[in-house]
This record gives sequence, C-alpha cells and structure tokens, in this order.
Amino acid sequence: MAKPSFSTPLGMVDILPEETPSWRALEQIIHEEAAKFNFQEIRTPILEPTELIRRGVGQLTDIVTKEIFAFKKGDTHYVLRPELTAPVVRSFVQHHLDQRGGVQKLYYIGPMFRAERPQKGRQRQFHQFGLEVIGSADPIADIETIAFMMRIYERIGIKNFTLKLNSVGDPESRERYKNVLKEYLEPHRAQLSELSQQRLDKNPMRILDSKEPEDQEFITKAPIIQDFLNEESSLHFEQVKNGLNTLGISYILDPYLVRGMDYYTRTAFELSSPDLGSQDALAGGGRYDLLVEEIGGKPTPAVGFAAGMERLLIACEELNISLTDPTKLDVYVVSLGNAARQWALGCLPTLRAHGLSASMDYSGRSMKAQMKEANRELARFTLIAGEQELQDEQFVLRDMEQSTETKGSLDELVSLLTKPLS
Ligand code: HAM
Repeated sequence: MAKPSFSTPLGMVDILPEETPSWRALEQIIHEEAAKFNFQEIRTPILEPTELIRRGVGQLTDIVTKEIFAFKKGDTHYVLRPELTAPVVRSFVQHHLDQRGGVQKLYYIGPMFRAERPQKGRQRQFHQFGLEVIGSADPIADIETIAFMMRIYERIGIKNFTLKLNSVGDPESRERYKNVLKEYLEPHRAQLSELSQQRLDKNPMRILDSKEPEDQEFITKAPIIQDFLNEESSLHFEQVKNGLNTLGISYILDPYLVRGMDYYTRTAFELSSPDLGSQDALAGGGRYDLLVEEIGGKPTPAVGFAAGMERLLIACEELNISLTDPTKLDVYVVSLGNAARQWALGCLPTLRAHGLSASMDYSGRSMKAQMKEANRELARFTLIAGEQELQDEQFVLRDMEQSTETKGSLDELVSLLTKPLS
C-alpha cells in the first residue's frame, strides 16, 4: 500500500471505530463508579498557561524540563496540559469552589500531552481518568481516593497488580530528610549519573526516582524518609495504612517511591501491573497539601490520583478481558428497486423511533450485496422489501441468526421486534 501523504503526529494515535466501544464502556464504568462515590465531573481546557504547569508540576521535573508541548500566541505562553492536578487546582482557585462549602470531590476523563519517546503504553497524547479531593487533610480522603482507583480495576477484572505506598512527608520532615540524603550521596557524587549530580544540589529526593543503572546501588542503600517523619506525618501515614487494611486493600511499602511531580506531600502511591511490560505504571497519585496555596489560593489540603486509560486497555487485552459485546445492528433494511428504496428510507425513522438501531444500503447495490453488508454489520434482523412486498404491504423479517423468516405489515413486524423477550 502507498504511504499516505499525512498521518498522525509521532506518539499520537487515532482511536478507530472498532476501538471506540471499549473506550465508551470504560468511560461509562468511570462515570458510574464516580457517581457511587459522590464525585462530580470537571472539564477544563486542553491548553493551560505555561507558568501554571511550571509552578504546579515543578521546574525541575522531567515533565517541565523535557516533555511539555509549548507554544506562544501573541504575548501568551501556552502548554498542552501534561496532567490535570494543577489545572483542576487552578479551576478550584479561579472559581472559588471552596465557597460551595465542604470538600470538593472532582473527577475527570480526558487527553494529556507529554513529549516522551513513544513506545508500547507510552504515547505523546494519552488519556487519563482521575480525581482530586480538595479541602480535606483527613486520611479518609486518601483512603477513599485509593479505594476509588482500586474499584475501577476490580470492576473490570484486573487483579494482578501491586500498590506501592509511601509517605514523602511534610515540608519540615522533608527538609530534614533532604539534608541527610544529600550528606549520604555527596561522597558518591562523581559516581552518580549526570542528571542525578544536577539533582543533588537542587532536589536530592528526585534522585530516588532515577532509572539510571549507575544510581541504583546508591538508591537501594539510601536512608529512608520514614525515619525522618515528624509525629504528625507519621500518624497520618499510620492512619492511611490502617484504613487500607480495614478495606482489605493490600499494598507494599516502598520508602523510595517519590513520584514524578514536585507537589506531593505525605501520602504517595503507585499502582503497577506485571501485564504491561516496561511501562508498568497503571496509575499513581498522592497528597499535595501545598499546591492550592502555590497556585494562589488559601492553604487547602488535597489528595488525588490519575490513571492511564491506554494502559488499562492494554492490560484488558493481555488478560483477554472484553469491556463490550460486539456491536449489533438491530435491523438492516434490504430493498430492491427504486420504490422499495424510498420505502426503506421512510421506514428507518419508524424503526429508530421504536428504539431500534436501523440502517440500509447507501449505494444502490444488489440484494445479495445488501445481505452481505447486513452480515458484516452483525445485523440481528433484515427487513426485506421488493416490488411485490410493497404492493401487498407485507414485508419479510429475517432473523439472521436463526435463519427464519416472518411475513407481516410494518406495524406487525415492528411490534414483533419490540416485544420484550419472554
Ligand atoms: P502520573 O503518574 O504522571 O500522575 O500519571 C498517571 C498515569 O498516567 C500513569 O500511571 C500512567 O498510567 C499514565 N501515563 C502517564 N504518562 C503517560 C504516557 N506518556 N503515555 C501513556 N500513559 C501515561 C499524574 O499525572 C498526576 N496528576 C496524578 C495525580 C492526581 N496526583 C494527584 N492527583
């Protein structure tokens, strides 16, 4: 086949008609479960001011330094949103959502953009669903956030995963830990990767997230943050763990889990799946008690998570989990001759008004070709009209699976089609 003149940008894909039913089914599950947890949906623009993402996600993160799609229009700098926590917080502050009273429990579904090197499970445009609980410091908020995340995978039937849990502490605990970590790493500076050497001065905790082979031996022997948590952060972490135990949600403690954004405080978690290959993170999140203030609001504690939808669908494929039944068309109207074709056209709205999906031939093809198309469309029934049928006002309804036929007026056949199954 000739190479097409145009194709999707690198790392971006079309979601084709045979794939959209799974996406819709997944979205439906997310909406239903969010309603059960009493979360409300929020939708924000695809573009955000560059400064919001820089400040929200963190100047030194990979996302900001390497992965944002940015452009300038007039005097304004924009980015395609790489994630939704900072934008949702922007919206919370901009619209004074705190004045609605209570804790804001918001969820979202939508595309994000990161200029990463594409590979299986890693795209430049990908989709996340997630939620943000803004206005609660209570460990219950952390636990419910994790419980919601787990509920989606449980409902879909993905069970093979690991929930890693950590506390990255509050600023006071972190400051103490950072100093200790720096002291520990400083003598090994020359052996660290170039990136980690830079991070050693600016943000040593980021080194724990390094995937560079030369850093690993130092990371595995590094002091752990749990030994430096103050009493408040320690207690909060204990309560989160207890709540997860109460709900029967298993986790493993990973003292080196720091996540890729700078806004996290206290709880941090990540869900990974062995069915995904190298891009194994299904979802991740944590608490970010300082972000609302950072973005210009009043100090407001918050927690949330986001999950990759492509990765969830890859896991479904690996596990042979289907989220949909094959789409079935209820009735394909087969017509022969001009008059019958006109009749078929008029018949479609009647069938649809009775809640049936209905279609017909758009290209004036032979009866045989129309029957073939009905089969390809997985039509449950064909409604057949030729000249004789039109004259008699008696049409043929063919059950495509059973290969049986019934004759009758349109009204009779429609009531047959819409009669509840006994
Ligand atoms: P994140 O860990 O950067 O967190 O992304 C969450 C999930 O999005 C990942 O676990 C992964 O499944 C998916 N993901 C990320 N990048 C890609 C990519 N290039 N291609 C495909 N999937 C990808 C966040 O975005 C935070 N905003 C989560 C959060 C919400 N924290 C607090 N609230």
